Amino acid sequence: LAKASRPSVIWLSFQECTGCTESLTRSHAPTLEDLILNLISLEYHHTLQAASGEAAEAARLQAIEEHKGQYLVIVDGSLPGPDAEAGYSTIAGQSNHEILRETVGHAAAVIAVGTCAAFGGLPEADPNPTGARPIMDLVRDKPLVNVPGCPPMPLAIAGVVAHYLAFRRLPELDAYLRPLAFYGQSIHDRCYRRPFYDKGLFAEGFDDEGARKGWCLYRLGCKGPTTYNACAVMKWNDGTSWPVESGHPCLGCSEPRFWDAGGFYRAV
Ligand code: SF4
Ligand code: SF4
Ligand code: F3S
Repeated sequence: LAKASRPSVIWLSFQECTGCTESLTRSHAPTLEDLILNLISLEYHHTLQAASGEAAEAARLQAIEEHKGQYLVIVDGSLPGPDAEAGYSTIAGQSNHEILRETVGHAAAVIAVGTCAAFGGLPEADPNPTGARPIMDLVRDKPLVNVPGCPPMPLAIAGVVAHYLAFRRLPELDAYLRPLAFYGQSIHDRCYRRPFYDKGLFAEGFDDEGARKGWCLYRLGCKGPTTYNACAVMKWNDGTSWPVESGHPCLGCSEPRFWDAGGFYRAV
């Protein structure tokens, strides 16, 4: 990696909550500092750039011009639907569609970070007032990788960028265009509570005997069997813990439609 030249990266943020960027700041291998100071040249990023207003937009256009065909585009957040193009989510007077087309036109590859960018995510949740949709709906002629999760694991974001730096191509992907290295196995297949599932030992409440003994959370709504992500082995916060280890079922945050797919509690 140290010998790889630093590719330019333009990071676009559309209908999002900044949680994906927050997640990246927790990466420890490489750290965010190492990534943006030594490994890539970050040309544009709403939250991390010093420039603002016209100077920021000028930097994006200059990077496109100077690094045609060479730069990476990272996107977090969904796009508003075509009917909403004129009204929702504009930046510096330009619609998200316009900015995406303009920026991706000369890109080498696109990384859609977070479930909003990969699958529509929170903005797409019922009733989806903006007609939100994933980045891959509009980007069909460039190599694209989805790194979903709400937010995605910091190591998955940094790992995909690091793979591109080392090999100048995207990693091997699954049917949802997710990198197999991080999304190749289900949470359930790598969960340390799996032996309890196999023995039929389930917690039935968050404070019952089964919960105290660390039994399987399936009957509390765990989506681990249908969720593909690396939390069970990589964990969060520098390897400290992950939702199931903290006593909460997996919500399925790296899968399409997870906000509406039953992972959350509903008032009855
Ligand atoms: Fe926020 Fe989750 Fe969307 Fe990322 S995927 S922008 S954390 S809502
Ligand atoms: Fe599977 Fe969830 Fe039970 Fe773990 S807690 S074994 S992921 S159902
Ligand atoms: Fe998301 Fe489930 Fe991991 S909710 S953070 S994929 S344990």
